[in-house]
Amino acid sequence: MTTDDKTARLGSVYQAESTEDVARVYDAWAENYDSDMSLAGYRHPAISLAILARYVPKDAGPLLDAGAGTGLIGEWLAITGYPHVEALDLSRGMLAVAERKGVYRALHQAALGTTLPFPDNHFAAIISAGVFTSGHVGIEGLDDLLRICRPGGVIVLTIKDVLWQASFKQRLAELEADGICALIDDTGPYVSMPGEAGTTPSRCIALRVA
Ligand SMILES: C[S@@+](CC[C@H](N)C(=O)[O-])C[C@H]1O[C@@H](n2cnc3c(N)ncnc32)[C@H](O)[C@@H]1O
Repeated sequence: MTTDDKTARLGSVYQAESTEDVARVYDAWAENYDSDMSLAGYRHPAISLAILARYVPKDAGPLLDAGAGTGLIGEWLAITGYPHVEALDLSRGMLAVAERKGVYRALHQAALGTTLPFPDNHFAAIISAGVFTSGHVGIEGLDDLLRICRPGGVIVLTIKDVLWQASFKQRLAELEADGICALIDDTGPYVSMPGEAGTTPSRCIALRVA
């Protein structure tokens, strides 16, 4: 595998035009994903985990890793002692790699932006890293996460800064005004893959569900 292979895989993900395209690209990438992201210096899992740990105790209840991919976050949540974490992802190939790690209580193949297969108020916290980004999931993915997170629960999301500026910031202001959730943390912009030339900034936010 060369650096050019890795750059081509990253490029095809961001240019995907449909959920089927996204799933296809990640299915094909799954076996190389962890090593590619390690080479790229991928920071979202560490940053989102730090934010989650600031608000969510180990015994809070079930957690959802939304867009879990190969389970990088699941591994770290297991190491740091969160006993019940479930994974959801669009890509069966990515979930297959995650399953081999043996760190999730359950794995669900489903698409953010649709009605998710969980009851209302189910999860104590939701973490989603690298998913609300160009060519993946936009603001439409947030509503159902708010539905399945319990009152008082916390949702930690990384968001590509262009999406934040274009739609998230405004939508969150509306949700706060309606008393649905509150923005409780915001890292401000940072680069998620410092090893990858041209990576545009993202931020990591935390919401408290009302
Ligand atoms: C950059 S990876 C991040 C994976 C993992 N969270 C991490 O930080 O390593 C993006 C993941 O989002 C998933 N994804 C993209 N669109 C999705 C959607 N609409 N619903 C669920 N998962 C989606 C992809 O299949 C992929 O596994």
